[in-house]
Amino acid sequence: MRIETYFIPVPIETRIAVIIDVLRATSMACALFEAGISELVMVPTVEEALEWKKKGYLAAGERGALKIKGFDLDNSPTELTKQEVLSKVRGRSVVMTTTNGTRAVNEAKASLKILACLNNLPSVVKHLKALNPKKISIICAGTQMRISMEDVYCAGLLVNTLRDEITFKADMDDASHLAMLVARHLTLKDLKETEHAKRLASKGFEADLTHAFRVGTSSVVPLADRANVFHTSSKM
Ligand code: MLT
Repeated sequence: MRIETYFIPVPIETRIAVIIDVLRATSMACALFEAGISELVMVPTVEEALEWKKKGYLAAGERGALKIKGFDLDNSPTELTKQEVLSKVRGRSVVMTTTNGTRAVNEAKASLKILACLNNLPSVVKHLKALNPKKISIICAGTQMRISMEDVYCAGLLVNTLRDEITFKADMDDASHLAMLVARHLTLKDLKETEHAKRLASKGFEADLTHAFRVGTSSVVPLADRANVFHTSSKM
């Protein structure tokens, strides 16, 4: 198996792309499916999201980490623990746009896109194990085309686990190797010191950090084809 990792969004053409935005787009995507949504469309712009909203979709996302005017939800997974929000989203289709996460999803050209974060990492590994592909491209969303350490940490944990559970002899590029070393040397506690984590904490989203930095709390694996319409693995 060949594993390639990209630290910022790239317009690559590949078969399987695993896209990571720990803070917070892919963590939010898992939380939305955990909350019972039926479908998640990821679009790059606010204008496109508002078009989907006109068709009856709930609109979720952020700009500058905050809720967008006219949207139903922001990009906060812990908001979904509130009873009134849960009853609003259950069974609904959602469209989402975020600064970096949905951009990474839209830039990658892949016949299968998988959303990963720390929450669903073991389930993503299980899914990949069943697929047993020849090649996996891991794409980190980063922040404004710069590296985000929490995404690299998650990518490294994924590479490490794939090596442990699928193939120790994985053929890795240098970026995958580097990500693996990052994951081996950092602890989850270090992630609270990342630039993005500190920015979110300063805006009052500490609870989202605690939520996003837990490994294996979600069994959801959001999957899509080129159209960027995600369903959970059981519905694909
Ligand atoms: C993004 O996609 O840029 C993030 O999800 C931003 C955020 O933390 O809300």
